[in-house]
Order: sequence, then structure tokens, then C-alpha cells
Amino acid sequence: MKAVVLVGGEGTRMRPLTETIPKPLIPLVDRPFLHHVLDHLARHGVHEVILSSPYLEARFATFLEERHGDPAVTWITEASPLGTGGAVANASRHLDETFLVCNGDILTDLDLTAMLAFHRERGATGTIALTPVDDARPYGLVELDGDRILAFREKPPDRVPGTVNAGTYVLEPAALDGVPADRMVSIEREVFPRLIDGGAPMHGFVSDAYWMDLGTPEKYLRATFDALEGRVAGHDYRAPYLDHRAQVSLTARLGRWVVAGPGARIGRDAEVEDSVLLAGAVVGEGAVVRDSILGPRAEVGDGARVSGAVLAEGARVPPGGAAEGARIGPGATLATGA
Ligand code: GDD
Ligand code: MG
Repeated sequence: MKAVVLVGGEGTRMRPLTETIPKPLIPLVDRPFLHHVLDHLARHGVHEVILSSPYLEARFATFLEERHGDPAVTWITEASPLGTGGAVANASRHLDETFLVCNGDILTDLDLTAMLAFHRERGATGTIALTPVDDARPYGLVELDGDRILAFREKPPDRVPGTVNAGTYVLEPAALDGVPADRMVSIEREVFPRLIDGGAPMHGFVSDAYWMDLGTPEKYLRATFDALEGRVAGHDYRAPYLDHRAQVSLTARLGRWVVAGPGARIGRDAEVEDSVLLAGAVVGEGAVVRDSILGPRAEVGDGARVSGAVLAEGARVPPGGAAEGARIGPGATLATGA
């Protein structure tokens, strides 16, 4: 079984972290998120994955050099953004039988084996995993009759509850008939509505599996804490999670929901809660960090206070500074008085 994992978005809502790190390569607890996605696929019998990204391609090259084992990864060129539909069509020469498509920013323990059996039993052209939500606006809202899909509405304007696209599809190659691979095509706005309107059997696989789209800093932190709490099958961590190469002062106070990556340092009398420190991030003496993401080698100076903030790779808050809700770009220093 093969899968296309969509990893080529710009991750705009995760800026400025995603200015240098593609969203699927941001670590979740102990390793880049894409490892979690690929491992999940491997557990369900996917042995080949096709990836492409017009964005920060070199970063993926490094990831792929380090990744070994199942599934094998085929990297294909996507010179300019093709959108979610165009990117799958661009992979179609590798797809000659039933295949999977996954958004590359979803943490889930969805039972893909059961989803595939469901798809085959119905003889579907496409099966879309669905999850219930209270507010469908950020997602693709799916209307069902039994498990047959009647309509797919991407990003509905009104706050309505419903079952939404969970970003995992089982598709037949025929689902891609006529989808161009040389321009931007949205699978959600163009391909699915056209298949549904044309009468193709499209089914929804509703599941109450763990599911989180890591599209925003808040959701990324939520997913991290859920993984720490053992709420995601296949993830078993100790909370707080401190990499063995992290250095944490004995007098620092750490909440339960803290991740400190390799080489991260937390100084004397510092306080860290509900936050992620990526590799080499530094929290100075007596500094306070809450509800924040510190990118690789980001620095919070002695006595500084940071909350609800996202610091990109190498970003700095000077000693004594205060950064509430701040977004600090790669290598930038928080302007004093901000
Ligand atoms: N290769 C490639 N090329 N990948 C892309 C491109 C592109 O041009 N554009 C986006 N992607 C990838 C992103 O990296 C991400 O993994 C996935 O496609 C979905 O894009 P997002 O930008 O994260 O979309 P979304 O979260 O607003 O909405 C999507 O996901 C929701 C579930 O989380 C839609 O599929 C919704 O219908 C769905 O409910
Ligand atoms: Mg998303």
C-alpha cells in the first residue's frame, strides 16, 4: 500500500517558526512530526510514501537522509505550489492501485486498517475520514446520508457543529481522472465536490480516534500535551519530557507539560510551564516561560518573562524583557519596550 503525505504548505499560522522549519518537521515531543506520521502509516501496512514540497525543500532532504526503515520514501519535485489536489495528481504516476492520502499536520491514532476495509466493502471511489467538531469553520464540512457523502464544503462561513474532513483519504486512482498536475488545484474545493456532484461513490468514515490538526501554536501545544498524557495511542512518554541532552537546573521549577529538546538549557530558579523548548533553546536564570514555543536555539534572557509566545529559530528575548503573545522572527531580538 502506498500513501501520499501532503507536506508542502507554508504553515502560515505557525509563523515565524515555519519561516525556517516546514510545519511537518517541527518536533513533536521527541522527534520531527513527520516521523510520527510515517510510523503510523507503517503500522498499518503502508510501505511506500510519496512526498513533495515546493517550500523549504532542502530541510526535507536532511530529514530524509536521517530517516531509515519503513515506509520507503519517494521524493518528487513540485516546482511551484500545486495545492492539495495538484500535489496528489503530480504523484499519480506512482499510484496504480488503491492508495492513501494524509495531510502532513495531523496527529491521530486513526485505525487506517479499518478505514481501508470500510472503503473496500463499499466499493468507494473515495473514503474521507471524518471527525465531529463543534465549530466547522477551520475545516471541510461534510454532509452525510448514512455514510454516503452528499456535500463537501471547505471552510464554511458560519459557526456550525458537524463532521469534518480529518485529512486522511483512501482513494482509487480514478479519483484523479482529469485532475491537472501542472497548476494549483485544491482537493477540498475542486476534486471532492466534482466527484460528489458527478455521482461517484464517496463515503465518510466517522471515527472518534484521537485527532488534532497542528495548524496553530495553540493546537501544536495541545497535541504535545495530549501525547505527554498518553491520550494518543502508540505514544508513551514521561511528563515532563526532558531529552537526556537537555540541562535543567535543580532549582528550576517545571510544570508537567514541558518538553525540553536536545541541548535545551533551563537556568537556576527559572519557571517553565505548558511550553516546548526545541533543540538548544535556552531559558535564563529566574526567567518565566508559559504557554510558549521556543524554536531551536532561541534564548530567553535572565529574568525575562515570556507567555503565549512563539520564538523562531535563534530568536531572543533580552534579559529582563517581557514578551506576552509575541512572535519573534528567526534570529531577531525582541525590541525593548515591546
Ligand atoms: N505538496 C503540497 N503542495 N502540500 C500542500 C500544499 C501544496 O501546494 N498546500 C498545502 N499542503 C499541505 C499542508 O502542508 C498540509 O499538510 C495539508 O496540505 C493541508 O493544508 P493546510 O493548510 O494545513 O489545510 P487546513 O488545515 O486549513 O485544512 C485542511 O485540513 C483540515 C483538517 O485538518 C483541509 O483538508 C480541511 O478540509 C480539513 O478539515
Ligand atoms: Mg492543517
